[in-house]
Amino acid sequence: MKRIGILTSGGDAPGMNACIRAAVRTATAANVEVLGIRRGYNGLIHNEMAVLDRKCVTNIIHRGGTILETSRCPEFKTPEGRARAVRVLDEAGIAGLLLLGGDGTFRGGTLLADECNISIVGVPTTIDNDAYGTDYTIGFDTAINTALEAIDRIRDTALSLERLFFVEVMGHHTGFIALESGIAGGAEELIIPETPLSSEELCAKLKEAFKGGKKSAIVVVAEAEQPGYSFQIAQEVKKNIDVESRVCILGHIQRGGSPTARDRVLASSLGAAAVKALLSGKNGYMVGEINNEIAYTALADTWEKKKGLSPRLEELVSLLSA
Ligand code: F6P
Repeated sequence: MKRIGILTSGGDAPGMNACIRAAVRTATAANVEVLGIRRGYNGLIHNEMAVLDRKCVTNIIHRGGTILETSRCPEFKTPEGRARAVRVLDEAGIAGLLLLGGDGTFRGGTLLADECNISIVGVPTTIDNDAYGTDYTIGFDTAINTALEAIDRIRDTALSLERLFFVEVMGHHTGFIALESGIAGGAEELIIPETPLSSEELCAKLKEAFKGGKKSAIVVVAEAEQPGYSFQIAQEVKKNIDVESRVCILGHIQRGGSPTARDRVLASSLGAAAVKALLSGKNGYMVGEINNEIAYTALADTWEKKKGLSPRLEELVSLLSA
């Protein structure tokens, strides 16, 4: 294999740059040229690419976002869009393609792998941690630490004014960010899509907590399918509980910022492993890490199969919040 391409697609995630750096340096050490494709599948379809050498990736390991930029690309969902991408790949002489992204990226990658003759390997980069086939995705650790810092700050003001706070975090249709930032931030309650809690149940739990002497509380809410959902919950709770409440939606600040050490190490490890996988002839897989070992999962499984939350961690929330 003489030339590979690399692109970042979907929502950006802290650690994408560290992963690009590792991939470029691993490939160039093996005398393989790397073409950086701009703006995800959009840039692929429109032939936006340039050579990335070792120097191009100097001083990016600590930077959030992605130097390649990214996009969500409806055109790539069409057979015509993907046929254009295949032509561009052929004309550029790209023999292997690295896809950095989440479930949407891997859905597209699964289709592309069936429609072209080049090898494709994915690397899970999403703050949501929802890719099946890896314990953690690149960007998740940074996102939960960003959320945690916000929760800690909110606790200061919640305590001072004796208020109930609803803190809404991202995570798309999953509760990974809510669960781990909630445990780390000592949340009194959690609202996550995997284990629905009715507003009656939530009110009963909160009433008990305030009766037991709590003067303030934090409920961490996963955005689930409905960003802004926490306003609705707060309204419902207000009808039943006589405590002043506020809503805080953390939003896109969870996607930005310098990656944590954990994310940089994971990104470096998976970026290098992905290039090695391509060079050893692997095609149609995502490279992840399970129990500290590199694991390969068929691209289709990464989004068709569902990664569950840890029941042990879920239990902790109610056990520790009393
Ligand atoms: O997938 C990452 C993510 O940040 C989700 O947590 C969130 O639901 C979504 O992207 C937001 O996407 P956009 O930036 O396109 O609004």
